[in-house]
Amino acid sequence: MATTYVLIVIIYNLIIQSACAVPQFSHGRVVGRISSESVYDVSGCAASRVHPGVLYVHNDHGDSARIFALDRNTAKVVGEFLISGARNNDWEDIAVGPCDWADARSCIYILDGGSADEYPGYENTVYRVVEPDRMNITQLPVDSSLQYRWTARSSGTIMVDEEANVFIIAEGHGLNNMIVQLPSAAWGSTSAVFLQSDSMYGVSQSRKGPLGGDISADGTEILESDWGEAVCWSADGKYYYTLAEGHYQLLFEYMRLN
Ligand SMILES: *[C@@H]1O[C@H](CO)[C@@H](O)[C@H](O)[C@H]1NC(C)=O
Repeated sequence: MATTYVLIVIIYNLIIQSACAVPQFSHGRVVGRISSESVYDVSGCAASRVHPGVLYVHNDHGDSARIFALDRNTAKVVGEFLISGARNNDWEDIAVGPCDWADARSCIYILDGGSADEYPGYENTVYRVVEPDRMNITQLPVDSSLQYRWTARSSGTIMVDEEANVFIIAEGHGLNNMIVQLPSAAWGSTSAVFLQSDSMYGVSQSRKGPLGGDISADGTEILESDWGEAVCWSADGKYYYTLAEGHYQLLFEYMRLN
């Protein structure tokens, strides 16, 4: 176990920004090992706001358009949902937040954001899906989608705040990564919106990143990772979770200490 712990400290360079004092977290605790064959290349994670203790995850490019629900206390798969009307070209991250401003429903946002890495100017897509009301259904329809083009080659992070503002961050080295807020008017449009941003994210990346990130449910804190792809808060912000890519990975939990 000691080896695993040292590894996780080196692997995850997590930066937590806050207006308040920087919170402290416990060392990673292994919650469990993924036992499902189907969860083999996780590149994003986000906590359900409807089902307590559920984390949504998905595989990276090449998988079918599906997401999984994990029990954060056991790492067991408790639901699998095919997203009908979506494609997984290169799913890089997932987020959960309100479906719209002043909308009481909770939505899952999926970033198909890596394709422009190989094909600059290629259209990328963000899918919005209403959270399932139960775990034993198998299909979720796309509620809306937003296609975009961007000068950035690849983005690995999508974040949604408590007012349904959606942000994506381009991958870059050092301080060289733009952040952009998706224009809410572009949802549902049949043509791609061209994203423009002069805003830099402003958190230096020790390697190419960020690869994943999450805004806390109360909108006050950002969690990001520039090595492991999947990182997410618990819905109450008292814990965060990391999961690496590959088969049979360990789900780690970090508890807030202050
Ligand atoms: C699905 O789950 C709900 C509760 O979450 C339950 O009431 C219902 O019976 C289940 N349906 C099936 C087909 O298992």
